[in-house]
This record gives sequence, structure tokens and C-alpha cells, in this order.
Amino acid sequence: MKEKIQELRNSGLGKLEKLVTTDQLSDWHRDFLGRKGELTLLLKQLGELPAEERPAAGKEVNRLKLELQEAFDTNQDRVRQQQLQQELDSDDLDVTLPGRPCSPGHLHLTTQTLRKIYRIFQEMGFQVYEAPDVETDEYNFQLLNIPEYHPARDMWDTFWVNDEVVLRTHTSPGQIRAMREYHPNPIRVILPGKCYRYEQITPRSEHQFFQVEGLTVGRNIRLTDLIGVMTEFAKKMYGQQRQIRIRGSYFPFTEPSIEIDMSCTCEGAGCRLCKKTGWLEIAGAGMVHPVVLSNGGYDPEEWNGFAFGMGVERPAMLKHGIDDIRYFYSNDLRFLRQF
Ligand code: PHE
Repeated sequence: MKEKIQELRNSGLGKLEKLVTTDQLSDWHRDFLGRKGELTLLLKQLGELPAEERPAAGKEVNRLKLELQEAFDTNQDRVRQQQLQQELDSDDLDVTLPGRPCSPGHLHLTTQTLRKIYRIFQEMGFQVYEAPDVETDEYNFQLLNIPEYHPARDMWDTFWVNDEVVLRTHTSPGQIRAMREYHPNPIRVILPGKCYRYEQITPRSEHQFFQVEGLTVGRNIRLTDLIGVMTEFAKKMYGQQRQIRIRGSYFPFTEPSIEIDMSCTCEGAGCRLCKKTGWLEIAGAGMVHPVVLSNGGYDPEEWNGFAFGMGVERPAMLKHGIDDIRYFYSNDLRFLRQF
């Protein structure tokens, strides 16, 4: 019996040391320590021994079992390490390489521009007031002193939803909504939002674009207040050297109406942006028309105010030298990532 035990020890340990794969390991485990393995066979043979030899032999067999199990564990570790090393050597996997960074993205150029505009007007005490994109003919036109069949309607090519509902062609209908909500208090708001026009899409015009409207209503507001606010805005947005100039214009909802230009960054040298005039148009504006004030619920004998409306994409284009407005809505990451 002793010899058999020694034989098993030798062959078991001998084979174990030569194993190189985990498959071979589990074969070995089955052959030596498994339910029908060599060790079990040996245990069974104990019964055939004379009674006085059994306890000592039993002890021996158990010792062998522990020994084999321990040796198996050690070799299992060895094989696993070797296999891992092999995989690392043969694969192109380098676990010491830094991970791939996942980029968190950033705000769209339009949103960046809008937020900059908000900040500048907030510093001057303006609140942001949002009005709906889908408007009625009444708010988009009639209450702004543009009756049906008025030729001024030609200024805004309109997307009609039905006979009474339109996609707003400008942010000005928000003036009426703000006045009706704030009445009878003074107002100082900007109204940002998307506008829609039934226009041919070209590098210079989209059928959707953002505007930021401004509206003040108070008791002694003058045109010079409007000019002061726009001058401050131009300097904060485009740099301290900027100057503004005003030209007479016409809008049905302002009287008098003006167009506001800003001195070009080429400082009068004449460039492609300002078409060599030295000036860039930045907003339409004027004193709120008495009809509009009373439509908003304010008595024009007592109240007055100014309003302006400016584009958002166009100034961003000027600032960054973007020559095609269609980039803003085409979702091309190569464009968006630049800002
Ligand atoms: N709503 C005008 C436009 O879209 C701009 C404007 C706003 C003019 C407010 C005067 C006052 O063209």
C-alpha cells in the first residue's frame, strides 16, 4: 500500500508540473482528485487491507490528498499567470495605455451668442421674456399696427399654418404679450426666440433664425435712451472701439423708426464684411407706436418706450467670419466643433 501511495504521489506531482493550459489542469483534477479518480480508487482499496493496517494507511492517503490538492492550487496559479502573460505578449492590448477620453460636448454657437447677449442686457437690468413660436395673425401683425391687406405685410414672407395661425415672422408679437402681462408696471425685457420666414434659403438667409427683441415701457423714455443702450451693447459685445450710427427707417409698430449700424471692425478701412462701407447693420428699432402701447394696455398719453429687434446668427457670422448661414442648422460636427 505504501508503495502505491508513493507511486501516486510521484506520478500526480510529476504530471502536474508539466501542465500548461487550464484545460489540462481540469483533466488532471478529474484523473487524480475526481470522484472516479486515482485517489478515490486508493481509498476504496483501503477496505481490502487487514484491520490493523487500515488507520495508518488511511492517514497516509488523506495526507496525499491534501498534498495533491495544495500542489494543484499552486500549479493552477502558475498556469493562469503564464496564460495571461502569453495573451499580453501576443495581443496588441497594452493595459498601460491611458483610457480614451470621452468628450462632454459644448454649447451650439447660437446658444453661446444668445447667452452673451443675455448677459449684456441683464447687466442693464433687462429680464428675459419668452413668447411662443406659433402665433396668431392678430399678435404677429394686427396688434402691431399691421392690419390685413396692409402693404407692410410684404416685409415678412410668412409661413401660414391656417388662415389665422402663423409661425412668427419676428419676435415683436412678444411685445404685446409682455405688455399684457406686465401691465400696469414699467417694462424692461428682452425677448429671444426663433423666427420663421417663407424665404429662399441662400448663404445669407435661412427660413429659420433667431432674433432678440428688446422692449422698454416707462414714463419718460427717450430715443436717446435707446441709442445709449444700443451703444453700450455694441461695445460690450464687439469691443470698446465700436461706435453706432442711426438711420431713419420704417416699421409699422414704431414711431419714429430707425435702423442701427455699428462701425465695422475694419475701422473704416473697408472690408468684405461691411462691403467697404465701414458700417454693419445690427438692429431695427424705434419708439413704441402709440397704437401698440394701447393694444398692450398702456395709455400712450402717459406711457412710452422703445423697442429693437436684432439678429443672432448674422452677428455671430460677422464675428467668426462664417460665410454661410446654413451651417448653423446643418449639424455638421466639423463646423460646430470650431466654436
Ligand atoms: N420686428 C422687426 C423685424 O423683424 C425688427 C424691429 C423690432 C423693429 C422692434 C423695430 C422694433 O424686422
